[in-house]
Amino acid sequence: MDLKDKVAVVTGAARGIGRAIAVALARRGATVAACDVALGENADETVRLCREAGGEGRAFALDVSQPARVTEVMGAVAAAFGHLDILVNNAGIAIDGLLLRTKDEDWGKVLDVNLSGVFFCCRAAARHLLKAKDGGRIVNVTSVVGEQGNPGQVSYAASKAGIIGLTKTLARELAGRSLCVNAVSPGFIDTVMTAEHVQGKAREELLAKIPLGRIGAPEDIANAVAFLCSPEASYITGQVLRVNGGMLM
Ligand code: NAI
Repeated sequence: MDLKDKVAVVTGAARGIGRAIAVALARRGATVAACDVALGENADETVRLCREAGGEGRAFALDVSQPARVTEVMGAVAAAFGHLDILVNNAGIAIDGLLLRTKDEDWGKVLDVNLSGVFFCCRAAARHLLKAKDGGRIVNVTSVVGEQGNPGQVSYAASKAGIIGLTKTLARELAGRSLCVNAVSPGFIDTVMTAEHVQGKAREELLAKIPLGRIGAPEDIANAVAFLCSPEASYITGQVLRVNGGMLM
């Protein structure tokens, strides 16, 4: 229980990778604020799984693209649990389209959630994380697509590449205050997002590019995030940890 007495905010925690991260942190003893734009059965299930795993959990309604609400929720979490030690920026969306077909509106939506949302959460959480005992942690979820590009995902790739620059900058800015900032870069992970966006032949072709020969599970990402939040990772900052079955080395 190496995260006992730690309080963590996980965004996009109602399903998929975010839920797996919430549960992985709870299993290590953390109290998890499971934040999602859509509360309801899914978020409740995340909270239930966190408790079953041995940690504590509570759901918070949070649209990461709304800066005033982000500030409110970070304050509410710190007030409810006494402190805030870990922020995992996992919430993300994809609206696919080739360059010439990408509408201004869709470009804006993806950047607002995936990149501005990470910025808003980091800025609002930082004032609390800087007071964390033994140093705070931020882990941002980027993507293999942000590192190598992907036709048809111009907004998504740009937002995920932006997260890497943001992560390295904050790592440099906050290192002097013992706040470690890293990114995890998933490859192809089995969630609703991939089920919606990668189907049929495209799925087979992607699978063929993964040396380990399987699609990743949300828990593969969650374990990497939990490691970066652990005391054992206290000398790691500004890094992008790839968890992709070898599809990008
Ligand atoms: P998902 O679509 O299954 O879950 C995303 C969660 O984020 C949902 O619960 C959704 O309600 C929430 N969310 C969406 N907009 C939000 C907002 N504005 N504020 C708060 N919460 C919001 O997605 P999945 O697959 O679990 O992905 C999680 C993260 O991992 C995303 O950032 C995604 O870009 C990234 N990723 C996923 C990969 C995959 O293969 N599934 C690969 C690489 C990165």
